[in-house]
Amino acid sequence: MAGAVRLEPVDERNLEPLLSVAAAEAEPDDVMPPVDAPAGWSLARREAFRDFHRASFGGLDGPTRTQMYAILAAGEVVGMVRMTRCDEPATVETGMWLGRSARGQGLGAVALRELLSAAAAAGMQTVVAETTPDNAGALSVLRKCGAKLREDGAKVRAEMCLDSALPAL
Ligand SMILES: CC(C)(COP(=O)(O)OP(=O)(O)OC[C@H]1O[C@@H](n2cnc3c(N)ncnc32)[C@H](O)[C@@H]1OP(=O)(O)O)[C@@H](O)C(=O)NCCC(=O)NCCS
Repeated sequence: MAGAVRLEPVDERNLEPLLSVAAAEAEPDDVMPPVDAPAGWSLARREAFRDFHRASFGGLDGPTRTQMYAILAAGEVVGMVRMTRCDEPATVETGMWLGRSARGQGLGAVALRELLSAAAAAGMQTVVAETTPDNAGALSVLRKCGAKLREDGAKVRAEMCLDSALPAL
């Protein structure tokens, strides 16, 4: 399955499938910023999810400086990976999530590698990420993509240099 992963820019065609996966298989906090709405996947939170993604339809040069991609495995939407321009030149910050049923199969590392290719194609040289020391899945995916990891208080900061060769998966 990991061989059949591809990224599609998030747009109106894949937004509802992405919301369906998020609502069925992810926690709101893993997939969108906090909103003042009833707990769980209330109607208000679903609408906020749509607005959050639509705000980035303009991509890296749009108002949020963010390109979001739906992650597809075997043709099905299973999660999202994004890159956001940083103030440092040729640098983007990444973040991602997968629906629960897609986790633990190696898809995260394949999707992040696709994101690194897209970032390089967009002229980026460095991709950074931030996670927490207890997020074993995220740390493993970052290591598999050659990230240098640095503990910084309660955070772990990762840096991937796009002109370095990626480790074998
Ligand atoms: C982080 C995430 C993208 C990792 O993607 P993934 O495809 O599941 O990663 P992998 O299949 O390569 O698994 C990575 C490692 O985590 C472990 N793992 C994955 N899911 C796990 C789970 N639910 N519980 C325990 N371990 C888990 C795997 O066994 C694997 O270990 P290994 O590298 O020693 O083999 C995914 O787990 C996820 O979407 N998590 C929720 C959102 C999130 O935390 N995003 C990152 C924010 S920084």
